[in-house]
Amino acid sequence: MSTQTKISRKTILDIKKMKVQGEKISMLTAYDYNMASLMDDCEIDVILVGDSLGNVVLGYDTTLPVTMEDMLHHTRAVARGAKKALIVADMPFLSYQISPADALANAGRFLKEADAQAVKLEGGEDLAETVYKLTCAGVPVMAHLGLTPQSIHQLGGYKVQGKKEDAAQKMISDAQALEAAGAFSLVLECVPEKLAAEITGLLTIPTIGIGAGVHCDGQVLVINDMLGMFERLSPKFVKKYANMSQDIKKAVKAYISEVKEGVFPDADHSFK
Ligand code: KIV
Repeated sequence: MSTQTKISRKTILDIKKMKVQGEKISMLTAYDYNMASLMDDCEIDVILVGDSLGNVVLGYDTTLPVTMEDMLHHTRAVARGAKKALIVADMPFLSYQISPADALANAGRFLKEADAQAVKLEGGEDLAETVYKLTCAGVPVMAHLGLTPQSIHQLGGYKVQGKKEDAAQKMISDAQALEAAGAFSLVLECVPEKLAAEITGLLTIPTIGIGAGVHCDGQVLVINDMLGMFERLSPKFVKKYANMSQDIKKAVKAYISEVKEGVFPDADHSFK
């Protein structure tokens, strides 16, 4: 008889049930094995392999240059590290906008080749047909409205979205169309708190906010931002739970001076 205990991974059904039961959903981004395994130990509900990879790991100015191969490579690493959280992979720019068939072929790769359980894509009602096609084929979809970084040039900058009445109404109808098409959850990024609360109340699927106030069903942050590691940009909605850029610099400086002074390695770190 096998003595192995099977660890059960969170599913999209668990995530949807959390909304019904009024339990908040925790989500963070991760891009590698080590970080994903630490988060998994902390019982995070959802890990997003975000295309923010492009900004915080690959050093691009936007998420636009991120490729399918980049995303698959990092999703595989995260999947090796996290065995309990639901893993959602971001579909990169132009991997799902060209046609629903193209989107399905690319989305399927995240489940087939990289061990993700769902994908995320940015956009509203125009993508409803794609969301429907993916979900019919068995690929769970997390939708993303509000500030959608892949449309940064169309939006004209990183700004709060849905402030005017017509924009707010459009976001509401987009959210409803995405839910009707089969999305299992919806990220709302940089949206006024009141509008995010209204959308959350109208939908049966959970909303996950980032800069969208406390009334969303869950919250997400970019891990490098919340650990205080990424110094290039710090949006207002980011709460820093640590100051790791300072800690890392302190440690690296201490190492450099110990190497230069011949203090490291000492007897404890050498072989007799
Ligand atoms: O790419 C990303 O990290 C995201 C989150 C900010 C939601 O899309």
